[in-house]
Order: sequence, then structure tokens, then C-alpha cells
Amino acid sequence: MSPATTNKKFKNPRAAHNFQGRTCSISGVGSYVPEKILTNADLEKLVETSDEWITSRTGIQQRRIAADDQFTSDLATQAAIKAMSRAGVVAEQIDLIIVATITPDMPFPSTACLVQQKLGAFRAAAFDIEAACSGFIYALEIAQQFIVSRTYDTVLVVGAEKLSSIVDWKDRNTCVLFGDGAGAAILQNRPDSHGLLTAVMGADGTKADLLFMPGGGSRCPASAASVTSRLHYLRMEGKETFKNAVQAMQTAATEALRRCELDISRIKLIIPHQANRRIIDAVGERLGAKPEQLFVNLHNYGNTSAASVAIALDEAVESGKVQRGDLLLLVVFGAGLTWGAAVIEW
Ligand code: ACO
Repeated sequence: MSPATTNKKFKNPRAAHNFQGRTCSISGVGSYVPEKILTNADLEKLVETSDEWITSRTGIQQRRIAADDQFTSDLATQAAIKAMSRAGVVAEQIDLIIVATITPDMPFPSTACLVQQKLGAFRAAAFDIEAACSGFIYALEIAQQFIVSRTYDTVLVVGAEKLSSIVDWKDRNTCVLFGDGAGAAILQNRPDSHGLLTAVMGADGTKADLLFMPGGGSRCPASAASVTSRLHYLRMEGKETFKNAVQAMQTAATEALRRCELDISRIKLIIPHQANRRIIDAVGERLGAKPEQLFVNLHNYGNTSAASVAIALDEAVESGKVQRGDLLLLVVFGAGLTWGAAVIEW
């Protein structure tokens, strides 16, 4: 019997959609972070802040910053090369490239096209998606549709950000939170695994103004005035974003578990969006998770938006914390507002 129809003490929600005998599994992950480290002590020299404030309010100790000549597509390509090597996939095999990012190299062409060029993956279709910090789960769910429907066999999904390019280095409320990096996954049908069991996605556009970048789009194109007014940097209402994050992540994770008829105790590792240690702890507590079920690496990288859970997933796998057959819960939240949760049989 194929994994999509066997009963391994959890429910495969895809069976209800008639996607039998076909799964969307992650056959390789990879990540890349730039070399340059910016510590909290370095930030003390830029804005009025302290290592004590940043560590106690967020858990972040340092973040990576891309070089001036290193762009989102470069970070994405490095992560993709690692994921391809672990999956044993060469560029010619890739059917589709999806890059999730809020910091594309340019408004167009898509960063995915630039990654296609750098990898030499010339058979692949390529496009970007934008769901801020929720982008990686949105991209996984999109990729899954192509694989379980047998449209494509091999999809490359990348979450990549050069957030240092849109951070206002004069705003202590935001500049301490973010970092640069990329994480990638190769998705394929693997007959021995259920793979991505379900992905919950949600959005609330009525709260778009909690976290946004006002300048650079059609509403406020670049001009001398927009630059002077610092409109090309991200802005965030931290407190409201925090409250919404905890609520939305808990609800999405609970719904994903419900769909698979799983109790939280069955999850080997929860990989949450790495924005704030206090958000992660609050979500873990509300889900009834044990602290050791939560994977945390934000002390090293800060919030890398769409790259965040992808980098964390790669580190969790590399560290041996995740073995084939384990159940993982990914849970994310970001600007939009957007959120999501995914259950994966690794
Ligand atoms: N150093 C020192 N003091 C600071 C700093 C800083 N870096 N930043 C803010 N403060 C001050 C504030 O000015 C405020 O001072 P005041 O009381 O005199 O006005 C005080 O610290 C407390 O600020 P709060 O807003 O109450 O701090 P809070 O506990 O809410 O923490 C934080 C702020 C870390 C931003 C938190 O709200 C947070 O993590 N929010 C969620 C972020 C998030 O999840 N984003 C996810 C999506 S990201 C994406 O999609 C790209």
C-alpha cells in the first residue's frame, strides 16, 4: 500500500482530496547565512540600546549581514545548492523554482528567475511569492499542489531575505530584530513517506498597517521626498504584532494538528518562526508542548523572515534532532498579516 493510503496512527488529510498514492516530501534541505556577524554590542554603537534589552525582550544575540555585493538571489542560490546536493538532484531535474521573499533583488524580474540563471536550472519555471515571514509555508503548500497533482516531479522552494537592505538602522524599535539568510528545500514524491501532511494558511489584510514598508510600490514610488521621509524602510507596531503572532500561530498549529488527528505529544520537533523568544515560548506553552520540543536558533540569526523556518529546519536536520519518520510541526507568522502551520512526516 502506498503511504498516502496506509494508516500510521495519524490521518492524511490529502486522502480527502483524492491525492492517493502520491506524496510531497522534502528530499533535501540546505541553508546559507552570510559571513558577517552583527552582535548586540555592535548595535549599541548604532542606536540607543543595550545587549541586556535586546536579549531579555527578544532572545536575539547576533544576526548575519550580507555583503554590499551579495543579494537575496545569491543567498538563495547558496542554500539551494546545498539542498540539491543533499537530495541528490542536479539543476536539469528541477521543474519549478519558487522563492519566498520580501526583499527581492529587484521588483522585477523575480528573484526566482535570477536563481534559475545562477543554478543553470533552465528547464524550470520560476516565480516569487510574497507572504512575508509566512512565505516558506505558503511556498511549500503551493509546491505541494504541483507535485501531488503529478504536474511536476521536482520543485525547489527557497525562503531568502536581505532584510538589512530595508531595515532603518536609525530605528531601535526594529533594527535590532532582523538578519539576512536563506533556506531551501527540494520537494519530490517519496513513496516511503507521507511528507507534507497538511498546511494551514491564513491572512488578515485589515491589519496590514501593523507591519509594512510604505515606499517603493505603486502607492508611493521612489522620489527624493520618499527617501527623505525614510519611507523605504520597514515599519512595525511591535506590541500589536506580538499579540497577533501568538494568537494566530497557536490557532494555525492547533488546526494543522486537528486535521491530522495528532496530539502535540506526537510531534518530535516544533519549528516556529524565529521572531522573538517570548513569542515562541508563549505559543509552545499554549500548545501544551514541552520546552525540548521547540527548536530555537534566533539567538544566532534574529528574524530572517521567509528564510527563518527554512534555516531552522536545516539546522534541526543537520544536528540530528530530526530523523526520517519523525513528525514535525512548522508554524509561522508575518506581515499581511499572514500565518501558517504545516505538519510534515520527515
Ligand atoms: N533598545 C532599548 N529600548 C527599546 C528598543 C531597543 N532596541 N526598542 C524599543 N525600546 C523601548 C521602547 O521605546 C519602549 O520604551 P517606552 O516604554 O519608553 O516607550 C520600551 O522599550 C518597551 O517597548 P515595547 O514595545 O513595550 O517592547 P516589547 O516588549 O513589545 O518588545 C518587540 C518589542 C521586541 C519589538 C516585540 O514587540 C516583538 O517582538 N514584536 C513582534 C515582532 C514579530 O513577531 N514580527 C513578526 C513578523 S516580522 C515580518 O513579517 C517581517
